[in-house]
Amino acid sequence: MNLWPCLALLLQFAITANANTEKIVFSAPPTSSIPDAGPSFNNLDLYSLSPERLSVRLALPVAFPEDPLPKGLDSWYLLESLHPGQRYEVRICWAAIQPTAFTIDTFEPQQVFDTPHLITSLAAYSEAHALPASAKIKPRTPGSQQSLLFLRVQSAADYYTTNETLMLHPPLVDVDIILDPYLGNIFPQSLLPTGVYIIVLAAGSWWLSGAIWKRLFSAPKQHTD
Ligand SMILES: *[C@@H]1O[C@H](CO)[C@@H](O)[C@H](O)[C@H]1NC(C)=O
Repeated sequence: MNLWPCLALLLQFAITANANTEKIVFSAPPTSSIPDAGPSFNNLDLYSLSPERLSVRLALPVAFPEDPLPKGLDSWYLLESLHPGQRYEVRICWAAIQPTAFTIDTFEPQQVFDTPHLITSLAAYSEAHALPASAKIKPRTPGSQQSLLFLRVQSAADYYTTNETLMLHPPLVDVDIILDPYLGNIFPQSLLPTGVYIIVLAAGSWWLSGAIWKRLFSAPKQHTD
């Protein structure tokens, strides 16, 4: 059977996929009022992830890590309509052919508004990146209650090339940003099919090894009897 080469190949994919994922695990904060900076909050041009929209595919600008930007370029997103206290993970997945170092952080809104370097970075990002109309969501009511977080992704090019054009203008990196709720706060929902697969595989091998043992040890007995 060709099972072993297939399995080895599958494992290789699993390892490759891992190498290109960066993630953060967090608990959703308690609901709080949307800051009463009402109109300006709604004017923030940010992609938003929520239980209704769990992923977004984007091309992120990157910079080489240098003095003013040791972790590369900031980009900002909203995590909305979270369930307070529930555990989530946010993952960034990208292709191995675009070596990039990502740093992911989440912040509560008040923390961003109270921290000068965070609010400056957020405002600059929102101003520089117009959101396509299709990505706009309905306006939030100022003062309404929500469990909400800001997500900051820092992206730095993680390679060196003698090609000067590439060093001066590193190309955009294609990424998937994925919000993944944990089931019962212990297991990422998107891993459920993998979990079921592993359980079926384990149960199957347990049954098979039992059957083999039985054959091995019952066959000679019939001869000696
Ligand atoms: C440098 O990279 C750019 C962009 O990929 C490419 O168009 C160009 O041909 C490269 N130059 C050299 C000298 O390889």
